[in-house]
Amino acid sequence: MHIPIAQPSLDKEENDAVLAVLASGMIAQGPVTTAFEEEFAAYCGVPHAVAVSNGTTALHAALLAAGVRPGDEVIVPAFTFFATASSVSMCGAVPVFADVDTVTATIDPADVLAKVTPKTKAVIGVHLYGQPCDVGAVRDICDDKGLVFVEDAAQAHGATYRGEKTGSLGDLACFSFYATKNLATGEGGMVTTASDDYDARLRRIINHGQSEKYLHTELGYNYRMTDINAAIGRVQLGKLDGFNRRRQENAAYYGSHITAPGLVLPSVAPGRSHIWHQYSLRVTERFPLSRDELMARLRENGIGCAVHYPIALSRQPFYAGAAACPVAEALAASVLSIPVHPNVTDEGRAYICETINGVI
Ligand SMILES: Cc1ncc(COP(=O)(O)O)c(C=O)c1O
Repeated sequence: MHIPIAQPSLDKEENDAVLAVLASGMIAQGPVTTAFEEEFAAYCGVPHAVAVSNGTTALHAALLAAGVRPGDEVIVPAFTFFATASSVSMCGAVPVFADVDTVTATIDPADVLAKVTPKTKAVIGVHLYGQPCDVGAVRDICDDKGLVFVEDAAQAHGATYRGEKTGSLGDLACFSFYATKNLATGEGGMVTTASDDYDARLRRIINHGQSEKYLHTELGYNYRMTDINAAIGRVQLGKLDGFNRRRQENAAYYGSHITAPGLVLPSVAPGRSHIWHQYSLRVTERFPLSRDELMARLRENGIGCAVHYPIALSRQPFYAGAAACPVAEALAASVLSIPVHPNVTDEGRAYICETINGVI
């Protein structure tokens, strides 16, 4: 059996949608992107969605729209993909790393509070692996200190916090539609917001700083999405809840069938729904194999697996000198993701559990 760690779910519907765009002659940004923006905004329950070229440009544009400038500080979790922090650096600002919660691996509000200084402009909460961060607590800090709250929802399309969808929880929220994401367009991204002002700023920033055609009123970029990607995105959005349900079924199965001692299985915090972009368990010293040995064992048996993420941002060479974040650094040494995507079959997930449990 061969089970990859990630696999996009694409079929004739996506094919037909792309071919229709090619046949239309409008292969850059046009009406299909506008339709995708409207449908994505409605899905998240926000007035505005601005389509962009990827999740990193979504974050960069959102931070610029929020007014992040050189010299500002932005608090980000130490345990996430590099782009959460590099987008801050792209603004000439300084990412300040907050440690993460030991159970959810999402940003620890107590450490956010400890890291606020007069230079702090914003906080990015990452909904890691598909589970919302502690939005209520982070929101309270941001409101109290006058900070902008940005959601990094790159991994959490459709997840909820107290019944509200990601994308509607922050002042601005950023999504990625990279090939492995729950909603995949190859490359692509979206910024959502309830603010008319942020929406207008975002549209200038991602289109060369133009306030009208060929009138450039600020420094902007070409971060636009094409109608080819948007066409795939519209079809995928229609399937997203179904994809997420299958991921939830697979995760629930692992929760009751992985029984080997010494593995800590991921859990869902109260008030949150998890859409399982990754099913990332932790390999402790009580497990008979090291994390690397388990990874090798799974791969020998045709089971894809990966470490998200092997180095905490506080230990990345590019951010040398950053203060230590012990929880993030311990997680980096122990987490291991196994396949949870919608293409994992009933037989596949049973085989994965047997292989893991068979180690002891
Ligand atoms: C948490 C997080 N933030 C940002 C990004 C960046 O998205 P992209 O790869 O689309 O630029 C990703 C995706 O890899 C991510 O997982």
